Amino acid sequence: MTKKTAEDFAKQQKEISISEFFEKNKHLLGFDNPTKALLMAVKEAVDNSLDACEEAEILPDITVKIKNLKEDVYKVSIQDNGPGIVKEQVPRIFGKLLYGSKFHRLRQSRGQQGIGISAVLLYSQLTTGNPTRVLSRTDEKKKSQMFELLIDTKKNEPQIVKQEETDDGIPGTGIRVEMDILGRYRKSQGVDDYLKQTSISNPFAKIIYHAPDGEKMTFPRSVNELPVPPKEIKIHPYGVEFGILQRFLTETSSRTLQSFLVNEFSSIGQQTAKEICSMAKLEPNMKPPELERGGIEKLLGAMQKAKVQRPPLDCLSPIGEKELERSLKKEYPEAEFITTLTRSPEVYRGNPFQIEVGIIYGGNMKTDEPIEIIRLANRVPLLYQAGACATTEAAKDTDWKRYGLQQSGSNLPSGPMILVIHMCSAWVPFISESKEAIAPYPDIVKEMKLAMQDAGRNLSRYLSGKRRAGEAKRRIQIFERYSGEVASSIALLTKKPEKEIEKKLKSMISQRTHIKDDEEDKTE
Ligand SMILES: Nc1ncnc2c1ncn2[C@@H]1O[C@H](COP(=O)(O)OP(=O)(O)O)[C@@H](O)[C@H]1O
Ligand SMILES: [Mg+2]
Repeated sequence: MTKKTAEDFAKQQKEISISEFFEKNKHLLGFDNPTKALLMAVKEAVDNSLDACEEAEILPDITVKIKNLKEDVYKVSIQDNGPGIVKEQVPRIFGKLLYGSKFHRLRQSRGQQGIGISAVLLYSQLTTGNPTRVLSRTDEKKKSQMFELLIDTKKNEPQIVKQEETDDGIPGTGIRVEMDILGRYRKSQGVDDYLKQTSISNPFAKIIYHAPDGEKMTFPRSVNELPVPPKEIKIHPYGVEFGILQRFLTETSSRTLQSFLVNEFSSIGQQTAKEICSMAKLEPNMKPPELERGGIEKLLGAMQKAKVQRPPLDCLSPIGEKELERSLKKEYPEAEFITTLTRSPEVYRGNPFQIEVGIIYGGNMKTDEPIEIIRLANRVPLLYQAGACATTEAAKDTDWKRYGLQQSGSNLPSGPMILVIHMCSAWVPFISESKEAIAPYPDIVKEMKLAMQDAGRNLSRYLSGKRRAGEAKRRIQIFERYSGEVASSIALLTKKPEKEIEKKLKSMISQRTHIKDDEEDKTE
């Protein structure tokens, strides 16, 4: 056999399209088993619907239908009442990976990369060969546009199988996606849980769900107002890396280094910009693209050392204490105790973030099993990879024994409890492309722990109140057990009617034992 030369290799060296790459590596996007694939299909579409409605300031009405076509093939249909998508954009949005409106900006949203829904199309055509049907209506006075789409994976371009105007379907404006996929339906850790938790974290959304087993579920709104829209922010100097700074310097339309710093980053005013330039020993009036490697390094060092204010925090849109409490009460009406709290915003690597925690306690939950954790990131439920998630690390690190739960070593505590943790940020650091777990950065874990401790204290206050009430009840029972005997002895001594004495005794017991604990000591 002749040895291969560089020229031989050159013949095999060619570009790989992003679609081809993910066709081979679908597990990287979360399509690693049929149960998860069915969930991903619903999740990507619903997340998009919620993002679109929130941005267009429309109270979302979403309908999810899943039908079992044959064996492991399901038809999934998701419809929203959002703004719709203009005709020209539909094929690229659904038929091209890495195409979207959220990647090039820093704003809290569910989607980010522009891979979500097109990845589901890719999976659908890979497993069934069928095109996806998309209906879009952007104007109530006009008809819907219908597309049947496939992806040309070699080119990462949409392939339009059919296109027409249609009267079918969407009542006002919005999108409907219908796709066939290879999947598996399970009641737990799948679509049902995802929709229930989505309803908890988006109390302003109404979701109707037709499950493949014929069950119809409605998740009503628990609040009738949309959250205040989160503001888009610029990157904070503390979160900048070399390559990004280098690119910003060449792309900027700012004429001077000083104005570049003010315009392109958050929290830098003229004065801070001047200070950064002087720390970096760079001329504030120089043209940004003229900075060379050494200059960029000095600039980066100065940007990270300079005293810069925190980034603005109006880029965050938490669920809210009251709103979260309402949706938890709606989904867990049998719970004995519910507490929710929203911490003040914090910052990791220049990115503002905010943590919220909810505790649902008692009711008909098992008492001797590890607690359940509902993990949420930018209002999206995370159902997989719990072990690698910052939320789990924080829950294990928290000393729950102090708050009345059982816990051995650094395991999750046991008890009749569900812990809800939400992190919102313009940039949630996920551990992978499939966005299943939050990276356990120390600043984030620490803040989550503080939130859990706050909520834990509320729980322990409730539990000790309950314990005291239980003790008081036991005391009443003891007194009552002996009240008959005591009454007859007193009657013997005083020659007064026994029945009357017993009645008086009972009223005394009930009066005394209902006295508040802090007054208890004062009574004789
Ligand atoms: N239901 C929808 N209504 C309106 N716009 C949508 C809808 N679904 C998707 N889009 C648009 O398509 C883009 C691409 O969606 P997607 O591939 O899921 O990526 P991402 O959500 O990460 O941006 C979104 O950024 C949004 O602009
Ligand atoms: Mg998306």
